Amino acid sequence: MLRTSVLRLVGRTGASRLSVLEDFGPRYYSSGSLGARDDARDARAYFTTPIFYVNAAPHIGHLYSALLADALCRHRRLRGPSTAATRFSTGTDEHGLKIQQAAATAGLTPTELCDRVSEHFQQLFQEAGISCTDFIRTTEARHRVAVQHFWGVLKSRGLLYKGVYEGWYCASDECFLPEAKVTRQPGPLGDSFPVSLESGHPVSWTKEENYIFRLSQFREPLQRWLRSNPQAITPEPFHHVVLQWLDEELPDLSVSRRSSHLHWGIPVPGDDSQTIYVWLDALVNYLTVIGYPNAEFKSWWPATSHIIGKDILKFHAIYWPAFLLGAGMSPPQRIYVHSHWTVCGQKMSKSLGNVVDPRTCLNRYTVDGFRYFLLRQGVPNWDCDYYDEKVVKLLNSELADALGGLLNRCTAKRINPSETYPAFCTTCFPSEPGLVGPSVRAQAEDYVLVSSVATLPKQVADHYDNFQIYKALEAVSSCVRQTNGFVQRHAPWKLNWESPVDAPWLGTVLHVALECLRVFGTLLQPVTPSLADKLLSRLGVSASERNLGELYFLPRFYGHPCPFEGRRLGPETGLLFPRLDQSRTWLVKAHRT
Ligand code: MSP
Repeated sequence: MLRTSVLRLVGRTGASRLSVLEDFGPRYYSSGSLGARDDARDARAYFTTPIFYVNAAPHIGHLYSALLADALCRHRRLRGPSTAATRFSTGTDEHGLKIQQAAATAGLTPTELCDRVSEHFQQLFQEAGISCTDFIRTTEARHRVAVQHFWGVLKSRGLLYKGVYEGWYCASDECFLPEAKVTRQPGPLGDSFPVSLESGHPVSWTKEENYIFRLSQFREPLQRWLRSNPQAITPEPFHHVVLQWLDEELPDLSVSRRSSHLHWGIPVPGDDSQTIYVWLDALVNYLTVIGYPNAEFKSWWPATSHIIGKDILKFHAIYWPAFLLGAGMSPPQRIYVHSHWTVCGQKMSKSLGNVVDPRTCLNRYTVDGFRYFLLRQGVPNWDCDYYDEKVVKLLNSELADALGGLLNRCTAKRINPSETYPAFCTTCFPSEPGLVGPSVRAQAEDYVLVSSVATLPKQVADHYDNFQIYKALEAVSSCVRQTNGFVQRHAPWKLNWESPVDAPWLGTVLHVALECLRVFGTLLQPVTPSLADKLLSRLGVSASERNLGELYFLPRFYGHPCPFEGRRLGPETGLLFPRLDQSRTWLVKAHRT
């Protein structure tokens, strides 16, 4: 057998003071306009996670994919009623050889395995606060209708033909591989077996007559699409990688398997001897959810943001847009790509026994704590390493000490006996820096703080748009540190409410710190929804005052009335985030050998 060619088709065809000042005025209004920025143009937004294979229980990498999508979607919803039309889908990918084999190994029918594992994913996502509007299973009847219809469209447009496929197939990754992507791995008995170079999963040689999709015709249209939409794939390095792939050969793609070999899938319409390739089946889920083939899907497509891991980039950035173009539809608007979590420096795998169970983590670190950790530490551009000490250290320092401590300092009865949002005194903190006078108490660094917090919502929005959520959280955390510095600098506990000299300044210090906290609470909602709710409720911020569109930071500073001034704080409900005890929270220790 000739193993040099991969896909052989035997078919028919082949801050200075000045800048601080400049920042202030416009910022008051622009932070308010965040919500309305581009309402009419893209009022609808449709976010998707990959649909998850049901061959094994979910791990923290799967949760990470879903959390990134959840945070993007929640941030979008926060931008106000004009952008409230969001849809967010997730689900399970239940067909294919991988599932068929996993069920056989487990001694279950494929349906039993799918029901069981799909339920795990649904429970996990519910516990983790994934705010999806749709959960799809590819074994549902509505999906079969959509896939078969989509197939029919490709067929009617002359894009499918019958040919013989001969090459490597990797069942674990459900993909065809060129010879250059296959290597030999030594076996236990001194023999060797072929594996995928990228994933290390075993591959097998396949030769059969299949339906083939004319992928090769789409090289130039895909290049045009990517070149005219430089933000289509974010972060940029992944966009670049796809363009590089497109410089290489783009062979036609086998899109069905013999049913005698793969029975667990959707039959090719009109030809029961063939089952539709699981990736074509799976990708169409994004259309099924929005009602395809009924016309209603058009109001959501292509306003789509796919959130995916780097391992499935080729399927989403080449195959999927090519299928869509072939069916006469537009490619998705955005593809956001993230990297992977390793555990103590190693790839997570069942055989290494280092798979981290996300439900245990949610229990140990709380839902908000673990969400915060994954999104604060996960960097889309490169892989991140997981170990427990890291979680405890981060959460204790940023949520318990810095943020929780700040809230405590500004709301504790001993400092704020009236338990209100105190008044802001414009003579103590004039809007113009550098003024001198007997009652002026604000210092240069205080203006820097105000400027930092005023620009924070826009900065955070830009980081979300660039899919750098960790940078958004880093920016919030840095402002929390600055606010703690502000409180420390002015030591409100040393000021006296009874003194006519101290009282206006004491009120102002607390007012500014509470305003900063209000901004932090509002911006943290997409990542730590319950903690943010607790924080905002303690500040007395009502549900209708929590959108980015309403986020007018420190209006009194700009000469506007502040709706919170004089308002009673919400009830005290305990620590914002109780410190974690390192010794009791170990799951995976660093440097474990
Ligand atoms: N079923 C396909 C997707 C089809 S979408 C039309 C699939 N499923 S998966 O369960 O293997 O992976 C789902 C998601 O989890 C992918 O985005 C993948 O990148 C992500 N992750 C899997 N392991 C991961 C880590 N170790 N770390 C982070 N994300 C990881 O692929």
